[in-house]
Amino acid sequence: MHVPVLVDSVLTGLRLDGARDSSSKRVIIDGTLGGGGHAIRIGSSLAPSETLIAMDRDPSVIERMVPFLESELETTAERSEIGWFLQPIQGCRWIVCAESYCAIPDLLHQLGISSVDGILLDLGLSSDQLQDAQRGFSFRTDGPLDLRFDSSSGISAADFLRIRTEKEIADTIYQFGEERFSRRIARAIVETRQAQPIETSKQLADLIHRLVPGRIHGRVDSATRTFQALRIAVNRELEHVEQAMQTLPQCLAMGGRLAVISFHSLEDRIVKHAMREHDLLHVITKKPIVADLAELDANPRSRSAKLRVAERMDA
Ligand SMILES: C[S@@+](CC[C@H](N)C(=O)[O-])C[C@H]1O[C@@H](n2cnc3c(N)ncnc32)[C@H](O)[C@@H]1O
Repeated sequence: MHVPVLVDSVLTGLRLDGARDSSSKRVIIDGTLGGGGHAIRIGSSLAPSETLIAMDRDPSVIERMVPFLESELETTAERSEIGWFLQPIQGCRWIVCAESYCAIPDLLHQLGISSVDGILLDLGLSSDQLQDAQRGFSFRTDGPLDLRFDSSSGISAADFLRIRTEKEIADTIYQFGEERFSRRIARAIVETRQAQPIETSKQLADLIHRLVPGRIHGRVDSATRTFQALRIAVNRELEHVEQAMQTLPQCLAMGGRLAVISFHSLEDRIVKHAMREHDLLHVITKKPIVADLAELDANPRSRSAKLRVAERMDA
């Protein structure tokens, strides 16, 4: 099960750590619902008069989370064209949608909401996705090499490796995986595919393990960077982050907060620069917030998490 990272810092960053005000009408967005760890905590901090919008680009996340939330919040979800609406007796109203966080401006327009008080993006993938062998996210389990968050859009990683040139594959692995053996890996992929297409996560992992010296560099498996690169490429992940960092500040009310957790330097660089350079944002976290020793001990995934928070101000 996915263990959320830096939860208390997220609540503080979004100013949700104070007492609930029963007349308040705040709207908060969790743009990356995943296993719902952050969303549940955010929801518990909101009053029944307030709204939590929870989104995920992966439709299977929404399919799994709606029944989970129904049971957790002891209410029934109602479906509309926009998504699922839940109004528990005790807690805030929930709106749950299978959308990219890039669709937030359109979604708010559809909902007739002019601005929101906080947005959280917890980038990357969840442990549930990593453990689902049918998605190919993990090189530790064998499954189809898909790597898409939403299998109805774009091309799978297997197709990417089938149709792209050796140079395109090498550049992708270098740029998005920061893998110094990118050319060697790309050459082997192209040689291998002449005899047999690379269609499973195990085929690709075995190929990399044969090529890159030492199966384990320190703590990191030598296949990690190539899988990360392909996932970023087929989902156009950095484009989504860049677009969101440009458009989401306009969706915030004055004083509203944007909190972003990233797990690798490519994302963190985009977030850091966008927060510094956007006309509407004032940076709250001069340095990123990272996990303390207790969290590092309890949740190894937290070791690469960096949280940055910015606040909407006048242009
Ligand atoms: C690290 S997990 C989030 C975990 C969540 N905060 C929790 O506490 O369980 C990241 C989630 O973001 C989703 N995701 C990735 N890119 C997205 C995008 N552009 N828009 C919306 N969701 C996205 C993934 O499908 C995944 O479920």
